[in-house]
Amino acid sequence: MADTSHGPASFWTQADALLRKNLTFQKRNIKQNIRLVSFPILLCLLLVLVQTLVNHELDKPENRCGCICIDTDGDGKCEKVCALKYSTLEQGASCPIPDPPQWPPLLQVPAPNHRAVISSVIPYTDLPNESCKRTGSCPVTMLFTGKNQTLGEVLAGNMFRSNFTLNSSDTLDNLASSVSGSESMPENSNFLDPAFYSDLPIYNVQSQCSQNPISSVPINISSIQMQQEVRCVQGLHLWRNSSSEVNSELYKGYKKGNSERKINEILAAYDFSNSNGNNFNVSIWYNSTFKNDTGSGPIALLRLPRLVNLASNAYLEFLQGSGTDMLFEFVKEMPKPESKLRLDFSSLLGTLFFTWVILQLFPVVLTSLVYEKQQKLRIMMKMHGLGDGPYWMISYTYFLTVSSIYMLCFVIFGSLIGLKFFTMNEYSIQFIFYFIYINLQISLAFLVAAMFSDVKTSTVIGYIFVFGSGLLGGFLFQFFVQDTSFPRGWIIVLELYPGFSLYRGLYEFAQYAFNGNYMGTDGMRWGDLSDSNNGMREVFIIMVVEWFLVLLFAYYVDQAVSSGTGKGTFFCLQRFRKKKLSSFKMRSLRRQGSKVSIEMEKPDVGQEREKVEKLLLDSDTTHAVICDNLKKVYSGRDGNPEKFAVRGLSLALSRGECFGMLGPNGAGKTSFINMMIGLTKSTSGTAYVQGLDIQTQMDEIYTSMGVCPQHDLLWETLTGREHLLFYGRLKNLKGSALIQAVEESLKSVNLFYGGVADKQAGKYSGGMKRRLSVAISLIGDPKVVYMDEPSTGLDPASRNNLWNVVKRAKQDRAIILTTHSMEEAEVLCDRLGVFVDGSLQCIGNPKELKARYGGSYVFTMTTSSNHEEEVENLVRRLSPNANKIYYLSGTQKFELPKQEVRIADVFESVENAKQRFTVFAWGLADTTLEDVFIKVALEAQASNVLT
Ligand SMILES: *[C@@H]1O[C@H](CO)[C@@H](O)[C@H](O)[C@H]1NC(C)=O
Ligand SMILES: *[C@@H]1O[C@H](CO)[C@@H](O)[C@H](O)[C@H]1NC(C)=O
Ligand SMILES: *[C@@H]1O[C@H](CO)[C@@H](O)[C@H](O)[C@H]1NC(C)=O
Ligand SMILES: *[C@@H]1O[C@H](CO)[C@@H](O)[C@H](O)[C@H]1NC(C)=O
Ligand SMILES: *[C@@H]1O[C@H](CO)[C@@H](O)[C@H](O)[C@H]1NC(C)=O
Repeated sequence: MADTSHGPASFWTQADALLRKNLTFQKRNIKQNIRLVSFPILLCLLLVLVQTLVNHELDKPENRCGCICIDTDGDGKCEKVCALKYSTLEQGASCPIPDPPQWPPLLQVPAPNHRAVISSVIPYTDLPNESCKRTGSCPVTMLFTGKNQTLGEVLAGNMFRSNFTLNSSDTLDNLASSVSGSESMPENSNFLDPAFYSDLPIYNVQSQCSQNPISSVPINISSIQMQQEVRCVQGLHLWRNSSSEVNSELYKGYKKGNSERKINEILAAYDFSNSNGNNFNVSIWYNSTFKNDTGSGPIALLRLPRLVNLASNAYLEFLQGSGTDMLFEFVKEMPKPESKLRLDFSSLLGTLFFTWVILQLFPVVLTSLVYEKQQKLRIMMKMHGLGDGPYWMISYTYFLTVSSIYMLCFVIFGSLIGLKFFTMNEYSIQFIFYFIYINLQISLAFLVAAMFSDVKTSTVIGYIFVFGSGLLGGFLFQFFVQDTSFPRGWIIVLELYPGFSLYRGLYEFAQYAFNGNYMGTDGMRWGDLSDSNNGMREVFIIMVVEWFLVLLFAYYVDQAVSSGTGKGTFFCLQRFRKKKLSSFKMRSLRRQGSKVSIEMEKPDVGQEREKVEKLLLDSDTTHAVICDNLKKVYSGRDGNPEKFAVRGLSLALSRGECFGMLGPNGAGKTSFINMMIGLTKSTSGTAYVQGLDIQTQMDEIYTSMGVCPQHDLLWETLTGREHLLFYGRLKNLKGSALIQAVEESLKSVNLFYGGVADKQAGKYSGGMKRRLSVAISLIGDPKVVYMDEPSTGLDPASRNNLWNVVKRAKQDRAIILTTHSMEEAEVLCDRLGVFVDGSLQCIGNPKELKARYGGSYVFTMTTSSNHEEEVENLVRRLSPNANKIYYLSGTQKFELPKQEVRIADVFESVENAKQRFTVFAWGLADTTLEDVFIKVALEAQASNVLT
């Protein structure tokens, strides 16, 4: 490769590489992206559909203000006139009311069979007898108390008149000046008191009723003539000694169980307390329960002012004498314009739907992060030099952009189709709210992603979060918000959960939009944020603070997890544990270590150690890799002893050397590689790569390192060329040098021709993926390359192909290769080490090893089983020190020391033997590497068992 002078890639080069890769990746995922964006659009459309249907239903002519055709300007043609008087009661709701009707103020009078009478719970004998309930003629009771009973009696007496008859020509004034009331319930719209259009009578409360208490009088309200029944009812005023007595009596009026007869309702109660001639002080008890199901409190107040007026009138009369009166003439509602009956569905249903829409981004970000982790792509990128800074910056910005586009589509589309939820509220508040929330959500996804390593689990958790938060918000949290008696502090605590703070924000938008639409006012404006009922301000504060905290915490956890010491447990915890263990461990290690070197170290391994020590003293930098007594110990868990994965490895590799590592499974090869590529930290000792220490300078080492992991770590949807371009950029290749390097690389692994380079990696065969992995490990001219079983699972042709690549590549770099294939080791490696049970058993080039450990031929012969002994005799004759290493039903294998036998003798003896008995097959072989390997491994294991 041409360019060898490039240094490590800068922050921005790395960021650029990652960004380009992500964009390509997204381009491939276009279908999924379209599905994602279409979700809110579909929801909005659904809302609009429902809304149109509902409004169509509400806006039917029979619900519109009643109209009639009359000739108003006298030109003989009739004009359409719409007014309340042409409307039914239902239509009236939408009529303009420029001049609302007025009606006399009323009291809330208990229904006849609810009025208080003597009963077992209320033993006061001054109450009326229960028998009046049968005739429906019970009086209404009013209680009063105070410091001065004389004064109280006077005031109470002033309240009602006796023998008062209605003047039928001016009923309304008469009703206003006498004390009137109704048992009907006030309603939501207050343009007329229901008392005047329900069938219930109007009660005229007097201290004594005349003979004929019931009369029917004409009433004119807003030019509508009505006949109204007015019924006289006796008002009883009873003195009680203290306000606590009043309290207990009122309390006993509430019904218990289902018995209607037990209800004892009292009109009202007055406490005149310390009132006297100079001073008027009154408290009034009234029944605040009587509000209709719409539930808004102030409606009950409609029947309240008259109670106050009654008391002040009585006091005025006490001061000034009878005849003085403070007339409370009428009650009327504010004028109202013509209104259309329309419900804004987007605001009613919107909160839940929109919560889902926005939360839906969470699993998307989460799974995408966990995918890179599960496929180990993150660590792969890191090993090829991608720093954490660029990774975080680009990933974060990238998800922020995706989320912002999503939200933008959502808001713009919602506004275009006219959802009040969006159009009524100030856009700047909405944008800031959504912006802060998506940032919080992304940070949260980063944090949660650190705890999962499986895409499926994280997807499930993500969607449970989405639907759970939405439903809990809609069916639990919202009730807390609406319930004014629920402590506000607890709501803020609940809002610390991001799903609820989102819900609260959307809920506020919906409320403002709904009310604004209904009342014809504005939606939420910045000024409304200072309103104490508006929860938006707290939501903003909570979300901003959480955003920063979660982001910091996520970065911290990510660092802890990716520093490799373990999964899931936290950094500080681990550090603490390590510290506690290490001092103790070092001692035991040292003992163990010395034993190993004295008793078991082979001369070749010892030589390598001396070489390393010398190199370190000379501070030599010509060697690519120098391992200095590298050790890895896994601490014992659950009472198991500590596991020594690597027990002091010393090794020096020069440039241009390929070192093969052989060893049985579990020998510690992978632990060694993991330490070298920075996945785990060594327990003690260190290694220098290009003169850089793996303990402290791993980030610099990454820029000149290539890794071909045991399993292919590739993006399914990226092509081979895109993989190489990405990793090439990470290695700081640019422009034409990059293109050239990628092309050469593709050609060298035979992926260039036939359009293979531009096929997605997911569609590659196993061999192609393997070759691509090797190409990735070699791109950008790394000085040290680690290959973990590079040819596993390849057919012989592909394998040869791959070997050629590696052979070519080893010219000017050090390669460390682990393999189980002796053939591969022999073809590729300049030196081999057999690694058993955590330490090197031997080291040397393949020929040397064979000579050293071989030194014998292997003689095999197969006969029928009754000739076995003759074969053995034959061998003994050839070589007295022969060693039987294997036998099974007629097949026997012997090891013949080379110095004892001549090959010609062997052939001769076999020819002779063939004449005496049938030989099915026979063979004589020189020792193979495989024999060396097995021998070394067995020896090492045997000596380990002994020690
Ligand atoms: C009670 O009120 C009456 C009427 O105002 C007054 O004459 C009387 O002195 C008051 N009694 C006391 C103890 O204040
Ligand atoms: C009723 O009121 C009208 C006007 O206020 C008055 O002229 C008339 O005398 C009254 N009739 C009775 C019976 O009080
Ligand atoms: C209220 O006080 C009066 C005078 O002190 C007393 O006679 C009467 O029994 C008391 N009533 C009750 C219900 O305690
Ligand atoms: C208050 O009004 C409600 C509704 O009319 C009624 O059910 C309840 O019994 C009343 N309570 C009292 C103490 O009068
Ligand atoms: C509330 O008002 C409606 C009419 O708007 C009426 O039908 C209903 O009976 C009222 N509820 C009660 C508890 O009186």
